Amino acid sequence: MTPPTPPIRKTSPWPAIIAVGVFLLFAALIVAEMAQVSGDDGGRPPIEGTLTADVYAEQVAALLANADPARGEGLVTRYGCTSCHAGAGAQNRLAPEWTGLAERAADRHPPLPAAAYVYESIVYPRAVEIEGYSGQMPLIYARTIPEADLGDILAYLLEQ
Ligand code: HEC
Repeated sequence: MTPPTPPIRKTSPWPAIIAVGVFLLFAALIVAEMAQVSGDDGGRPPIEGTLTADVYAEQVAALLANADPARGEGLVTRYGCTSCHAGAGAQNRLAPEWTGLAERAADRHPPLPAAAYVYESIVYPRAVEIEGYSGQMPLIYARTIPEADLGDILAYLLEQ
């Protein structure tokens, strides 16, 4: 006599639900990570699109609040800015000299006022094309320069 066939066990839906849940979690993490890489950095707004004159004004005011231009002068050497922007770099037209920048800056990217333009040209150098230069400035500074340093550099450049 054959034993009675055991009743077909109804499979629980939970393993599938958990698998899908874990997959969605990873997908969300990857998307969040990519969003970070493409610009959003420690509270600064994402670079493209949303950086309006108002946003810039707020950012720049905050950065300049306690800024020290004398310290900024040392920082532009430490961060390697001057290897392009001064001395032999500038003579070889690696980068525009900063002399007179504070005056030029107000007209470079209307409606941005001078301080906002200088800030933009450091954190997003491709925003404005400068005649005679072909977009060689590194794009790393929005990520590599801490806000306090950025403020000091900005204050220094606005004295040029
Ligand atoms: C590899 C060379 C290079 C380095 C390093 C570099 N820049 Fe530049 N920078 C440029 C070039 C080239 C331009 C002109 C815009 C362009 O073509 O990208 C520019 C433009 C600028 C401008 C706008 C100047 C103007 O006349 O409107 C500012 C401000 C500036 N850089 C600041 C900095 C600061 C601050 C650093 C360091 C944190 C730095 N740059 C490092 C090459 C460089």
